[in-house]
Amino acid sequence: MPSHTRVEGSDPVTLQKTETADRSVRVDWNSYASAYDLLSEHNPEYQALLHDFEAFLSTIEKPRLIYDIGGGTGNYTKIAARDCPGSEIRFMEPDTGMIGMAKSKLAAHGNIRFDTLALEDIVATGTADLVICVHALYTMPTPEERLFDLRRLLRPGGWLYLIDLGRHMDVADWRNYLFSSLRQQLGLAGALRIFWQGREIAKQNQNILEAQKTGDYWTHTEAEVATAATAAGFEIVRKQSVYRGYSDLLVCRAMA
Ligand SMILES: C[S@@+](CC[C@H](N)C(=O)[O-])C[C@H]1O[C@@H](n2cnc3c(N)ncnc32)[C@H](O)[C@@H]1O
Repeated sequence: MPSHTRVEGSDPVTLQKTETADRSVRVDWNSYASAYDLLSEHNPEYQALLHDFEAFLSTIEKPRLIYDIGGGTGNYTKIAARDCPGSEIRFMEPDTGMIGMAKSKLAAHGNIRFDTLALEDIVATGTADLVICVHALYTMPTPEERLFDLRRLLRPGGWLYLIDLGRHMDVADWRNYLFSSLRQQLGLAGALRIFWQGREIAKQNQNILEAQKTGDYWTHTEAEVATAATAAGFEIVRKQSVYRGYSDLLVCRAMA
């Protein structure tokens, strides 16, 4: 049974305990956690997504309440906390390894509340101005329904910044790409060192592919995720293929 905590504060966020099988069993996010940032720091495509998010944040009115759903090791919340110090941020991450990394990384910021709730266990209050959900939706049970959960967290007109892996994870293609960019950045010895230290990532990427093939993880085209977002009550403001064509980025507004 996953451990759950309750967010304290004026908006009641309550818990619906579900007895559904833990779908993250296939991909061990906990083992992923320690190697995650090591490779993310050296992955230009991951860094490009962080830059896009920061640029997006600078274009909108400062959000009062932000949720980061499936926030992992906290890289998006780190940007939000730095650029929006007046915002209240709710960091939702069910994996204890990932949230542990996030807590130590974000310890200096006083405006973040951490919670181990999965998205489907949050009873939404409809007050958020911005919801961030990056590379997490595809791992969730019935992702099209989860888009309704994301919608329910937002006030009408609130923003959803969504990135989702849609295509099959070609492990060899990513390994070659990462190795050649690491080699350019650090030379051969440096690339080999980081690859060895981050070897857990290759294993978990293989698990992601397996889960995609069995249908446990959602795969989609850009059009399919856009259709699902529209059906869930979002107006799509920007849509873009990102992450070397593997993922889709949607910037959306919650319709009234
Ligand atoms: C690939 S990581 C992405 C982390 C972060 N958003 C980033 O882009 O760096 C996916 C995360 O989704 C989380 N996750 C899996 N199922 C979830 C659910 N049902 N609700 C919320 N988060 C979930 C996992 O624990 C994992 O940390």
